[in-house]
Amino acid sequence: MAKRLDDRGTRHDRFHQKAKREGFLARAVYKLEEIDQKHKIFDGGHRVLDLGCAPGSWLQYAEKQIGERAVLVGLDREAVPGAPPRARVVVGDVHTIDIKELLGDLPSFDIVLSDMAPDTSGIRSMDQARSEALFERALDIASQVLAPGGHFVGKLFQGAEFKKLNETVRAKFASAKSMKPASSRQISIEQYVIGKDFK
Ligand SMILES: C[S@@+](CC[C@H](N)C(=O)[O-])C[C@H]1O[C@@H](n2cnc3c(N)ncnc32)[C@H](O)[C@@H]1O
Repeated sequence: MAKRLDDRGTRHDRFHQKAKREGFLARAVYKLEEIDQKHKIFDGGHRVLDLGCAPGSWLQYAEKQIGERAVLVGLDREAVPGAPPRARVVVGDVHTIDIKELLGDLPSFDIVLSDMAPDTSGIRSMDQARSEALFERALDIASQVLAPGGHFVGKLFQGAEFKKLNETVRAKFASAKSMKPASSRQISIEQYVIGKDFK
């Protein structure tokens, strides 16, 4: 079977049911949980920027991990009515957003997350290129807003630039790893690149 770019259309699998049972807004929460269990993303930092945050399950997870101290900012093209009340959600496009609007009163963030995915056209090379552009922009924003020692997680459809983009992360962070969580369906080519300890 040909690999798909993402795992849309798999809404009623066991992770979807589990998310419903546990009160999470999307099955995507289990991808972040798995990444966090392996790479300890929420190991002290409390200021989180989540790019492409709708419907809000990663914000829910961040709040659960950090607790009362959590400072959460989300960005999405869509409104995010289900986001945790403590989150400040900015509605806008990542390619045109003013970074000052994301920072608000904050000097920096400790963690930058991006689960952004492009609208898929069905033309694989074009969709991979769009995913790469979203990832590069997320990394560019992370480079501007992360405090030294901060962490980055970004989704990327595996394509021509995958190796080069991993190397870009490696140059900016003390360590760079990629992983495909078990809750990301086997037929999807999405990967998550994790940069730890921003230089
Ligand atoms: C897979 S969903 C994120 C799910 C989220 N992590 C959660 O757990 O609820 C991807 C999101 O990226 C957003 N997105 C895609 N392109 C974007 C862009 N150019 N600017 C801002 N958000 C974008 C989409 O609107 C969509 O809500």
